Amino acid sequence: MTRHLISIEDLERDDIERILERAEAFSEVTDRHIKKVPALRGRTVLNLFYEASTRTRSSFELAAKRLSADVVNFAASGSSVEKGESLKDTVLTLAAHSPDAVVVRTPWAGAATMVTNWTDAAVVNAGDGKHEHPTQALLDVFTLKQKLGGLDGRSIWIVGDVAHSRVARSNILAFQKMGAKVTVCGPPTLIPRGIEALGCEVQYDLTRLRDADVVYALRMQNERMHDAYVPSLREYAARYQINGRRLGPRQVLMHPGPVNRGVELSGEVVDSPQAVITMQVKAGVVVRMAVLYELLSGAPADDRVTSPEEPQLA
Ligand code: NCD
Repeated sequence: MTRHLISIEDLERDDIERILERAEAFSEVTDRHIKKVPALRGRTVLNLFYEASTRTRSSFELAAKRLSADVVNFAASGSSVEKGESLKDTVLTLAAHSPDAVVVRTPWAGAATMVTNWTDAAVVNAGDGKHEHPTQALLDVFTLKQKLGGLDGRSIWIVGDVAHSRVARSNILAFQKMGAKVTVCGPPTLIPRGIEALGCEVQYDLTRLRDADVVYALRMQNERMHDAYVPSLREYAARYQINGRRLGPRQVLMHPGPVNRGVELSGEVVDSPQAVITMQVKAGVVVRMAVLYELLSGAPADDRVTSPEEPQLA
């Protein structure tokens, strides 16, 4: 694995397995009454969020705190970004606090890579525009391993707005690295041309949805759409919504959140026992603990961290 986590392409299957094993070891910590280990005591994690976030931001913050790191949370709204400060100057300013890791989410593809040039810290991409969201893919693989035992030979359908989704890109790569067969499905306007080059299959209707072991629905990313991609959300829902009629009784249902109930998913399937949406959120904390640990534990011998196999109370 590289010094930063920008893309799933930075990881081999072995790296993914190692991170997920560590996440599994950290699960024991988060199920305790006192949810903290001293693994990253004295290290500083900077969360730099230029876009709305509920799950990703809260779980990176909790992950860092459960490892005893100090956390600085920066949100663009309410900061000097509103006075015109650029991403580069913001990073250079906050890098003066000597963070060990910078977790960054922006609406711009490639921004996380640019941040690596402006700080010595390890950079974790928490979503860069339509490009990638690697920790989301890792937590989704973790959730599926818990639910199904493994991904080898499984069929996973990713349904919806693939064109604007960084989650789709990272997940296609990660699910395939872990041995699954991926099909993307949606209206032709929302499936990028040439996506088969990533190794996945393409379907434009849900006729064969029952072949899937896992149905992974995506949100309609209205904030990234500058033209009309579908005639209306009603028509989209009529053709592509995952609902009780379309979801088979043994299929696992996933969604990265936030869900638009009544659009990509009907309320009944969100609330059904087949949905693992809150399991995904829970996995987010332990997987991000494992990623931060992986990137920051290469410290000099005198400040070596405690092994997660032997967690200690802080
Ligand atoms: C996603 C995102 O922001 O990329 N959410 C998340 O991180 N769980 C997906 C989305 O916004 O639809």
